[in-house]
Amino acid sequence: MTDNKDLEAEIHPLKNEDKKSQENLGNRIKNEDNLKSASGQSRLSRCRTVAFFLSLFICLLVVFVVSFIIPCPDRPVSQSMWRIDYNAAVTYDFLAMEDINKDRIQDIVFLYKSTSSSNSFNRSCTDEGFSSPCAFVAAVSGANGSVLWERPVVQDVAFAECTMPQPSDSKTSSACVLVGRPGSFLAISLFTGETLWSHPSSFGGNTSILSPLLQVPDIDSDGAPDLLILTQEGKEVSGSIYSGSTGHQIGHRGSLSMDGDSSPLLHVTRMGAHYILLPCASSLCGCSLKDLYEKVTRRDAPFKSDPHWENILNASTHRLLPSSGAVRYLMNVPGKAGQDVLLVSSEACVLLDGQELTPRWTLGAAQVLRKPILGHYKPDTPAVVIENGTGIDRQILLLDLHSGAILWSQTLPSFPGGPPSTSLPTADHRSAFFFWGLHELIGTRGMDPEGAQHSLYMFHPTLPSVLLELANISANIVAFDVVLFEPSRHAAYVLLTGPTSSDMPGLVSVVKHKGHHMCPSSSCLVLPSAPSPRNHELTGALTTHWIC
Ligand SMILES: *[C@@H]1O[C@H](CO)[C@@H](O)[C@H](O)[C@H]1NC(C)=O
Ligand SMILES: *[C@@H]1O[C@H](CO)[C@@H](O)[C@H](O)[C@H]1NC(C)=O
Ligand SMILES: *[C@@H]1O[C@H](CO)[C@@H](O)[C@H](O)[C@H]1NC(C)=O
Ligand SMILES: *[C@@H]1O[C@H](CO)[C@@H](O)[C@H](O)[C@H]1NC(C)=O
Ligand SMILES: *[C@@H]1O[C@H](CO)[C@@H](O)[C@H](O)[C@H]1NC(C)=O
Ligand SMILES: *[C@@H]1O[C@H](CO)[C@@H](O)[C@H](O)[C@H]1NC(C)=O
Repeated sequence: MTDNKDLEAEIHPLKNEDKKSQENLGNRIKNEDNLKSASGQSRLSRCRTVAFFLSLFICLLVVFVVSFIIPCPDRPVSQSMWRIDYNAAVTYDFLAMEDINKDRIQDIVFLYKSTSSSNSFNRSCTDEGFSSPCAFVAAVSGANGSVLWERPVVQDVAFAECTMPQPSDSKTSSACVLVGRPGSFLAISLFTGETLWSHPSSFGGNTSILSPLLQVPDIDSDGAPDLLILTQEGKEVSGSIYSGSTGHQIGHRGSLSMDGDSSPLLHVTRMGAHYILLPCASSLCGCSLKDLYEKVTRRDAPFKSDPHWENILNASTHRLLPSSGAVRYLMNVPGKAGQDVLLVSSEACVLLDGQELTPRWTLGAAQVLRKPILGHYKPDTPAVVIENGTGIDRQILLLDLHSGAILWSQTLPSFPGGPPSTSLPTADHRSAFFFWGLHELIGTRGMDPEGAQHSLYMFHPTLPSVLLELANISANIVAFDVVLFEPSRHAAYVLLTGPTSSDMPGLVSVVKHKGHHMCPSSSCLVLPSAPSPRNHELTGALTTHWIC
């Protein structure tokens, strides 16, 4: 039927049109009054035609300009490996990344102590008023390792940390805070190395600064988040607030009346109240930022307090929660509604609800001596990596963050104090994980940390039976990181190696490695009880995640 109709339409293509035009004619006769407006319409249709061709012309012009006249921006050539050395120097556990020279490749900032800087920049310690040797900050290009800037900053470094990136405020995202020995407190710009502000420090000789620095919302209304520094002297923890843009102290130092000694955390409850959490003897202690602010300034605080938290907080001891065993680490982790708190104690790992502080899951019987790291094992599902024990039978566990279920576990011998594990997001919304361990053969020989080779292994959840060995290092690793130098383009690891003791200057090196070391040509450790992966399988899986 329909075929016949189509055929008819093909034979008499104008038949229907004829009918229509007849109808139109009828209509036109009916609407004879509107003839005037019809002539207006024809002028309008001419305008439409002109407009159509004009816009077509503009479109073509834009296409032409974009594709031929405006050249593609030149991609800087990035070397897959470079290394810079400093003789007779010592270095510090500090690495910061930022695109300093605006070539869209992350650059590296690090610290070293020496009598002189590298050849290209000859500013000496005495030029800046320090005695030799003194501590230098250096920024090197991530693309080829050339020095971008370098200068002496302090006599010796007691503490260095870059403030966390603030998406809304590019000014403060590029600052690093340094506490020098003796007595200086300054912030430098990551882009130029210039001193943003500098003050004599009020931290006493026996005072230690608790890492990390906490960034608190802008108190002095200068547009920059302010800094809360917790210090410990003897058993007493005190807090001081400093302006983020000038470094001036706001109020005076205030005691938190707690005796914590490690990793403080600034937690925001779902009501928007800020609490400083601190491990203290066998419990989790806390103090509202509002209370601390009122204590140090004797003014009303622009912060909230949370009625639920005030209820469970013991006003005399500042205890929030009892914990089984000494609290070692506290971390904010992404929860289903806002941030939750992961608490690692000597007895267990517990995920606490960020508002109610009730346990969501508990993993007992684990000796966690390293701060856990976060990553993704399944696409877009957060996972946490914990290390059970150190030494010969260290075990790495990957847990689902929401349920606490063990997703993957592997024994990987290590030395206590080896470089930390890390993770890096990959294009498939999962993560690659990087672990340091001892090569199997060496593990069975004597435990001599000096001569041993540390091996860096990579693990990706698409191939759960494979650990890829990326490198063997025998030098002492002071700092390590895996960096996405260019988003979805090139990842590489950065190693800062140097003498074990600050009293014995020696060779300090900064090394960047990428390329074939992150590709399947590296040696591959197939885990026991797993079939050996075929080579093409490995190649396929890795090339989808890394552009080598
Ligand atoms: C290095 O020192 C020389 C001589 O003291 C000086 O002329 C030169 O400008 C300095 N270079 C830099 C980069 O400061
Ligand atoms: C490194 O790259 C920069 C541009 O990013 C270039 O100016 C410099 O000459 C290069 N240095 C070396 C040693 O290749
Ligand atoms: C540091 O502590 C030691 C021993 O507790 C004490 O003798 C010394 O005076 C303290 N130094 C300062 C600067 O407080
Ligand atoms: C606070 O802790 C102390 C010491 O453990 C205890 O004696 C006191 O009853 C607690 N206060 C409240 C309100 O729970
Ligand atoms: C942690 O290691 C210890 C000793 O090797 C072991 O007994 C325990 O079961 C491990 N914990 C977990 C959660 O695997
Ligand atoms: C590391 O060293 C071991 C033993 O010396 C060797 O078998 C392995 O191939 C090395 N791996 C790399 C990535 O160089």
